[in-house]
Amino acid sequence: MKILVTGGAGFIGSNFIRFMLGEHPGAFVTNVDSLTYAGNLENLASIEKDPRYRFVKADIADPDAMDGLLSEGFDTLVNFAAESHVDRSIESAREFIRTNITGTQTLLDSARARSVGLFVQISTDEVYGSLPPGEAFREDTALHPNSPYAASKTAADLLVLAAVHTHGLNAFVTRCSNNYGPYQFPEKLIPLFISNALEGKELPVYGDGLQVRDWLHVDDHSRAIDLLIREGRKGEVYNIGTWQTGAADRTNIEIAKLLLRCLDRPESLLRYVTDRPGHDRRYAMDYSKIAREFGWKPLISLEDGLRSTVRWYVENRSWWEKVKSGEYQEYYRRHYGSRL
Ligand code: NAD
Ligand code: DAU
Repeated sequence: MKILVTGGAGFIGSNFIRFMLGEHPGAFVTNVDSLTYAGNLENLASIEKDPRYRFVKADIADPDAMDGLLSEGFDTLVNFAAESHVDRSIESAREFIRTNITGTQTLLDSARARSVGLFVQISTDEVYGSLPPGEAFREDTALHPNSPYAASKTAADLLVLAAVHTHGLNAFVTRCSNNYGPYQFPEKLIPLFISNALEGKELPVYGDGLQVRDWLHVDDHSRAIDLLIREGRKGEVYNIGTWQTGAADRTNIEIAKLLLRCLDRPESLLRYVTDRPGHDRRYAMDYSKIAREFGWKPLISLEDGLRSTVRWYVENRSWWEKVKSGEYQEYYRRHYGSRL
């Protein structure tokens, strides 16, 4: 199985690479990543010497680079590469358009020209917009993205589905809810709050803190993608999340208090701050399609997942301290710089 992973130096892509090399002795993984602020090769230190793994520094929006790489021939391309942080897209949408939209189309063009066997687009629940209480997103829910990030991911999904319809490309789209776990960049809620609490800093809660996310452990996400590579059908969309198992519907303030309890830190660290503009109120993913068709369900409860995640950030303080100080960007130069 020759797999091209884009964005594999990020949070979910690196988890997926470690997962695939661990699960499949016959897997060969090429990781193409341009190493933006979110790319950290230290996430892959445990497998970087594995002969089945290779790193290529390149931009998915560079047609020559992608065409050259894809001409090597791959069974599967999994596109994780993206600008992924909503707050940054509110500051400036430019890079989101370039990577998430132009980059995806560049990959689609090369995948078609170079006959990639399967194209998997990693997408998000945010393409559906925001939900009232009691409802959940299904694959046929109307698309209603609210942030520049979500709009760029929606455009990418539609380009992938158009390539299936128009050119017959073998591709499908996965849409997942909020992930958490080890190696998540500490700009996202859970690692930011854990690391701030460990540093004795305040936890900035946006608005009233009553927004709801559908939290899924990243290991459950990687397992779903692996399953879909083998079973998923051309032109389909698959939702991945936890709504039916009741892990969803935790407000941000509940998550923050849970984390503080796990860390034995006081609730006085909570600080209500100005809300995110256009903040989506609630997400919940109905994952009955992937459950019914292929038997996937989340295996890690939110309580267990948060406990193990907190433990990981406590035990791997040097990882997130280097990220917060910016020192992590040296890793590439020291370990790869002279060899490429
Ligand atoms: P991340 O920000 O941690 O990682 C993104 C990676 O993509 C980084 O390594 C970065 O260097 C790389 N990248 C960015 N622009 C690139 C470019 N032009 N060329 C090559 N590489 C580039 O993101 P993540 O949280 O791991 O998310 C991965 C994917 O999953 C994204 O597509 C995101 O939309 C999607 N997703 C994320 C979540 C979540 O909760 N984090 C949930 C659902 C879906
Ligand atoms: O739903 C899937 C999406 O989840 C992914 O597609 C995105 O790539 C990923 O970034 C994530 O988006 P969110 O905006 O939901 O995640 P974030 O961690 O930024 O915020 C989670 C919630 O916590 C959201 O309601 C905003 C709130 N929040 C966030 C931060 C960073 C705070 O209250 N304070 C904060 O400091």
